[in-house]
Order: sequence, then structure tokens, then C-alpha cells
Amino acid sequence: MNSTLRLTLASLVAGTTAAVLVTQAVEKPKYTTQEVMKTLHKGKDSIGKHVMDGNGTKEEIHKLLEYYPSLLLNEPEKGDKAEWKKRVTALLAATKALDKGTPGALEQFKEAVNCKACHQAHKPDKEH
Ligand code: HEC
Repeated sequence: MNSTLRLTLASLVAGTTAAVLVTQAVEKPKYTTQEVMKTLHKGKDSIGKHVMDGNGTKEEIHKLLEYYPSLLLNEPEKGDKAEWKKRVTALLAATKALDKGTPGALEQFKEAVNCKACHQAHKPDKEH
């Protein structure tokens, strides 16, 4: 094998390795949308409710910040993907503003966490 060929092979292998690494670095959602809903929103005494009522503790807000980013990485089973991204981005931004104590953040959050609007657009009609 001449040296040019050997070099070509070497760079091919290196290129493949790099491609594999890049693929693995792509972020995977930690939680499914259903898990996020169950953990944060489900029930009358949910974390989401506390926070909406203005009674969210730092810990609860941090829990939202742990789970909401997965929504950004999840695709909606139903509805327009761009709309979903917009909603979830607004929700995450409002939650970050709450965490920082930005004035008006609670109003922003209440609007962004609108259960009904998002469910109508994106929640599949199946029973759980
Ligand atoms: C950004 C959009 C969005 C918002 C805002 C949202 N939801 Fe959801 N919710 C969904 C989607 C999508 C599903 C369906 C998930 C699935 O089953 O794959 C869902 C499912 C649920 C479920 C069913 C979970 C289960 O047990 O299967 C509950 C309960 C729920 N949401 C409660 C709420 C409540 C309460 C609020 C408001 C405080 C809320 N959600 C706000 C998108 C949203």
C-alpha cells in the first residue's frame, strides 16, 4: 500500500469516528412529555399550580427548569412543530424569568403554561 492510500484510509477512519462522536453529542430529552406533565402539572396540588398561584418555592421552580427543557427536545405527537417550539420556548423563558425574579414573570408564566390552549393544539386525543 502506498503512503497516499494509507493517509486516505487514516483520514477516512478519523472522519467516521468524528461523525459518530457528533451524533452522540446531540442532546436527548431526559423526560417524555407525559413524564413532564405527570411530574409537574398533574393534580390539584401540582408544582405547576403552586407556581401559578405565586406560591412556588425556589425548589419547585428549579424542578420546572429541570423538566421543561425536555419539552423543547420532544416533538409533539399532534399539531404544528413550530407552534409547539414557540409555546415551549415561551414557557421555559417565563420559568427562567421567575427564577431570576424578573418583574412580570408570573403573568408571563401563567400565560405560557395555559393548559387548555396547549392541550387543544398538541395533546393527542387518546385516553391515558
Ligand atoms: C406546552 C404545551 C403544554 C402545556 C402548557 C401543558 N400541557 Fe399538559 N400535556 C401536553 C401534551 C402534549 C400532553 C400529552 C402527552 C403524551 O401523552 O404524550 C399533555 C398531557 C397532560 C396530562 C396527561 C398526563 C398523563 O398522565 O398521561 C396531564 C394531567 C396534563 N397534561 C396536565 C397539564 C396541566 C394541568 C397543565 C397546565 C398547568 C398543562 N398540562 C399544560 C402539553 C402541554
